[in-house]
Amino acid sequence: MLVVGGSASTKLAMDLATELNAEYIPATVKRFPDGECYVRIEKESLDDDVVIVQNSYPDEKMIELFLLQDAAIGLGAKKVVNVIPYYGYARQDERFNKGEPLSAKVMVDHIQMNADKVILVDIHNHAMLDWFDEAEVVDTHAAPAIGRFYKDQGIDLVLAPDEGALKRAGWVAEVLNCEWDYLVKTRLSGTNVHMTPKNIDAKNKKVLIVDDIISTGGTIVAATEELRRLGARSVSAACTHGLFVGGALDRLKKYCDKITAANTLECEVSVISVAPEVAKAI
Ligand code: R5P
Repeated sequence: MLVVGGSASTKLAMDLATELNAEYIPATVKRFPDGECYVRIEKESLDDDVVIVQNSYPDEKMIELFLLQDAAIGLGAKKVVNVIPYYGYARQDERFNKGEPLSAKVMVDHIQMNADKVILVDIHNHAMLDWFDEAEVVDTHAAPAIGRFYKDQGIDLVLAPDEGALKRAGWVAEVLNCEWDYLVKTRLSGTNVHMTPKNIDAKNKKVLIVDDIISTGGTIVAATEELRRLGARSVSAACTHGLFVGGALDRLKKYCDKITAANTLECEVSVISVAPEVAKAI
């Protein structure tokens, strides 16, 4: 087995190669003067199963992913396994308004054209896995890795910022052997979130908020404010996919004691490696 790292996911690809005891091959990626993408896998042949690790986010990384799939096939890959740690467009999984595309499915259709197996991490909506009818698909989870990371840090309570995230909080809490609960969230706008006051016993506790995505940080800010009101001693936040748009990380640093993310997206706080979970899924 060989592991090819695209430019969006090189660190995870390297970790994964180590985990699988496989050769790591960095992809050469350049841009032509007009902005078009050029990729090359610098090998004579790939007479083996090839794992391509590359996000489909932001948009230009998706083109790179499609080109890497074809490059691997051109070099004779026996099987193409795509690891897409952060799946772009997953949130447009419905036609919310007339005239909109089903973006998440458009991506599925294109990705599975040249893949035998696809590994995702904490996909936004599990139902979309059914759209993979050509390639085998596995959705793996960052919760065990988040649990491992916080294992000896004295966390008393794991909190989901909404009921939909409760299962994930429970998985992390199981590793930490502590309690878990959830808040009741209402989204007021793209950046503003309201948490309905809830009777949670957070007094003097070290709380870890766990979510799948931190984007603008609005959810974590509102959850942290509620936990402080409830008397929490410290509030940390961990997520699978740290997008941190529009200066969210700097904003969050003023509210939380610690912020961490899995390495599905590379940034200064993506210190939790999901390589063992991805290796298992492969
Ligand atoms: C929502 O369904 C997700 O689980 C996250 O809570 C959301 O994407 C976080 O967004 P933001 O950081 O902008 O509040």
